[in-house]
Amino acid sequence: MNDMTPTSAERAAKLEGMGCKRKRVEDIRFVQGKGNYVDDLKLPGMLYGDFNRSPHAHARIKKIDTTKAAAVPGVVAVITAETLKTVNLAWMPTLAGDVQMVLADGKVLFQNQEVAFVIADSRDAAADGADLVEVEYEPLPVNVNPLKAMAQGAPMIREDLKDKTDGAHGKRKHYNHIFAWQAGDKAATDAAFAKADVTIRELIVYPRCHPCPLETCQCVASFDKIKGELTLWGTFQAPHVIRTVGSLISKIPEHKIHVIAPDIGGGFGNKVGAYPGYICSIVASIVTGVPVKWVEDRIENLSTTAFARDFHMDMEIAATKDGKVTAMRCYTIADHGAFDACANATKWPAGLFSIISGAYDFPTAHVLVDGVYTNKAPGGVAYRCSFRVTEAAYAIERAMDIMAQKLGMDPAEFRIKNLIRREQFPYTSAFGWQYDSGDYHTAMNKAMEAVNYKKLRAEQKAKREAFKRGETRELMGIGIVFFTEIVGAGPSRACDILGIAMFDSAEIRIHPTGSGICRLGTKSQGQGHETTYAQIIATELGLPADNIAVEEGNTDTAPYGLGTYGSRSTPVSGAATAMACRKIKAKAQMIAAYMLEVHDDDLEWDVDRFQVKGNPERFKTMTELAWAAYHEVPPGMEPGLEAINYYDPPNFTFPFGAYICVVDVDVDTGTTKVRRFYALDDCGTRINPMIIEGQIHGGLTEAFAIAMGQEIHYDDEGNVTTASFMDYFLPTAVETPHWETDWTTTPSPHHPIGAKGVGESPNVGGVPCFSNAVNDAFAFLGSTHIQMPHDHWRTWTAAEKLGLHA
Ligand code: CDP
Repeated sequence: MNDMTPTSAERAAKLEGMGCKRKRVEDIRFVQGKGNYVDDLKLPGMLYGDFNRSPHAHARIKKIDTTKAAAVPGVVAVITAETLKTVNLAWMPTLAGDVQMVLADGKVLFQNQEVAFVIADSRDAAADGADLVEVEYEPLPVNVNPLKAMAQGAPMIREDLKDKTDGAHGKRKHYNHIFAWQAGDKAATDAAFAKADVTIRELIVYPRCHPCPLETCQCVASFDKIKGELTLWGTFQAPHVIRTVGSLISKIPEHKIHVIAPDIGGGFGNKVGAYPGYICSIVASIVTGVPVKWVEDRIENLSTTAFARDFHMDMEIAATKDGKVTAMRCYTIADHGAFDACANATKWPAGLFSIISGAYDFPTAHVLVDGVYTNKAPGGVAYRCSFRVTEAAYAIERAMDIMAQKLGMDPAEFRIKNLIRREQFPYTSAFGWQYDSGDYHTAMNKAMEAVNYKKLRAEQKAKREAFKRGETRELMGIGIVFFTEIVGAGPSRACDILGIAMFDSAEIRIHPTGSGICRLGTKSQGQGHETTYAQIIATELGLPADNIAVEEGNTDTAPYGLGTYGSRSTPVSGAATAMACRKIKAKAQMIAAYMLEVHDDDLEWDVDRFQVKGNPERFKTMTELAWAAYHEVPPGMEPGLEAINYYDPPNFTFPFGAYICVVDVDVDTGTTKVRRFYALDDCGTRINPMIIEGQIHGGLTEAFAIAMGQEIHYDDEGNVTTASFMDYFLPTAVETPHWETDWTTTPSPHHPIGAKGVGESPNVGGVPCFSNAVNDAFAFLGSTHIQMPHDHWRTWTAAEKLGLHA
C-alpha cells in the first residue's frame, strides 16, 4: 500500500453513507420549480370536478335540482348520491371499519359536506356549476360538543346506525357512540388510587387541529374503457392501500388499477385515507370516458379533509408524598366527527394512545376511550404523530407538571425521579409495550446542562419576586418535557390495515456498472427519502449514494408496501432496505470468493470491498462484483444482482427526547415570546444528521403552531369559524422561534441498522413543552392548567381570571 492509497475512512467518506450530512438530492428539482405534483399533470381532453357543499352542519335534504348547474356552458355532467347509487358507490368503507357517504344521501352531517360533484371542461365552469346546484334543506338540531354526544336526547347523527348495537369494535352504548376501548389494569389502578398519598385530576383537552399541508389533496382519474384499466394519480401517502381499497370498492381487478403518487407537498397524515373527491373523480372518468382532475381548495382542505386530535382527556396521577408515581388513569372522549374515518391500524380504534404512561415507571395504569359521533368533519388522522401518541404525550406531560406543582417539587426533579432507568431496558410498561432501548437520564442531564437549567430557575425566581413587587408586567415560564414515542407500525401481529399486515418492502437492483435503483412501498412527502435510503445502501453495499436512484409511489413498479406515516419509513422500510442489501452482499461475497479463488469464509468486508483475511491487497470492490454478476458468476449461480425484502418488524421502535422551552408572557396583552427552545432527540442510529435537523425544525414549527394558536373551531350551529388561513394560525418565518437541536444516540437493538423514526418526535414533544412553559409562567400564582392553544386572547383571559388586571 503506498501513501496515495485512500484509507478505509477516506473511502467511506466518499460513499456519503449513513451519518453523512448529504445534501438532499430532491432539492435540485424542488428549488428550481421542477417538482412534478398532481396539479402539474395535464392530459388531453381532461375535465375538472368541483363540489357543491352543504352550508348546514345537520339538515335533511328535501330536494336537489341540478338543472341550472347542468346548463352552465362547459358543464358536462352533475353527479349526486342518486347517480352513485346506480354503481353502488353512494357510501364507501372507511379505514376504521365504518362507512361514509361519498355524496350526501338523504341528509348532511357536517358543514361543507360534499353534496354534488360537477364536471366541466374548466375548473371555473365546474365551480360555477357547483354554485348553481339547488338544494332544499330542512335544518336539524346540531351537536358539536363531544361531551354532550351521549346525553339523553342528543341529536342523532347517524340514522343509518340507529338500530345497531354493535360497531366495528364491539358494543355501542348510545346511538352516537362508536366504540369503547381500554388498556391496562383497572382494578389494580383503582386500588392504587384508593391508597395514594397524593393525587391530581385535570380535564386536558387537545383541541381539533389540521395538518394543512401546503399542497391540498388532489387526484386525476383516467379510466381506459377499451382496456378496462384505471390510472389514478394522487396525493397518496399510501399508494398500495389506495389501490387495494379502490379495487375492493370499484370491483376493478387490482392488476388493472395503476396508482401513482408523484411529488407530494407535505402530507402529515392528511393524505392517508380515501376521500369523496377520489371516488367522484373515478366515477366521473368512467362516465365521461376522459380523465378527470379534482383539486380541493384551502377552505375545503381545512374544513372537510381529515382533522387531527379532538381528544378530551380526564387525566389522573397518583404519587407518594416524596414524589414517586404509583398509578395513572385516563378517561377520554374522542370526537371522531360524523363518520369514523380515523387512520389507525385496524385493531387500535384509539391508536397507540396507551403509550400514555410515557417515559415514567408507572407500576400500574388504565385508560378507557369512548369514541363518539358529532356534527363535524370526519378524520382523526395521525398528524405528524404515530396514531394518538401526541395526545398521550400531551396528557402525561401536562399531568406530570400539575403533580410536581402539587407536591411542591421542581418539574425536572420530579421527572428524573420517575424516569425509567437505563438498566430497566428492554422495559415493559404498565400497558404491555416493550420499550426497546433508552438512556433517559443521560439525555435529561445533557438537556438541563445545555440550557443551564438551575440558572434559568434562579432567574425566574428573581423575576417572580419583581413581578410581585410590581416592577415588571412580564412572567417567565420554563417548560420541560421528557417524551417517549412509539413508531414503526408495525409488527404484523399487532397492526394491520383492513386485514393487510403492516410490513414494508424494498427492492434493489444493482446494474452492471455498479449503480442501481431501489424501489419502495413508502412515499416521501418532503422527508428526503431519495437522499436517505440511498445512504443506507451506500453504507451497506459500499457503493456511492450518488449512484443509487430511489423510486417510490408507483404501484406498478414498487413492491407492496403500506406507505409513509407515523414515522414508519425508517423503522420498517429502512430495515427492509438494509436486509435487501444484505442478500445482495451475500451473493457478491460468493462471486468474490470465486474470483479470488478462496472460500467465502476467508473473506472480510471493508467499506466497499471483500478482501482476503490477512491479505488486504487481494480484494474485489463492489463495483467490480456488480460487473462480474452479469459476466462471470460461479457455475450454477443465477446471473444478476438484485434482491427484494419484505420486512415485518419484531417490535416498534421507541425514540425519545428531552425538550426545554423558555417563554416571557406579557400579562397585559397576553403576548408570549419564545425566548429559547432546546430540543434533544434520540432516534438511535442517525442516517442523515442534516435531514434529522430539518425534520426537527419542521416538527417544532408545527408544534409551535398547534400549542400557540391553532384550533379548528365550530360555533354552536356547527359553522367552522377557522376554515381559512385568515383565521387558522400558520406561522411564517416571522413568528417562528429559533430552534436549538441536540442529540444522544441509543440504537434500537432489534433494527438491522439500529435506527428509530424521528419525523414525529418534535411534534409529540414540542406541543407539551410550549404548553408547560406558558402554564409554568402562571403556576406560582395558583393556576394549574390553562388549555391550549395559548394565543394572546386565551393567555390574556387566563391573566384576567387570576385577577392580574385589577
Ligand atoms: O416515515 P417518515 O419518513 O415520515 O419518518 P422517519 O422514518 O422518521 O424519517 C424521516 C426522515 O428522517 C427520513 O429521510 C429518514 O431517512 C431520516 N432519518 C434519519 O436520517 N435517521 C433516523 N434515525 C431516522 C430518520
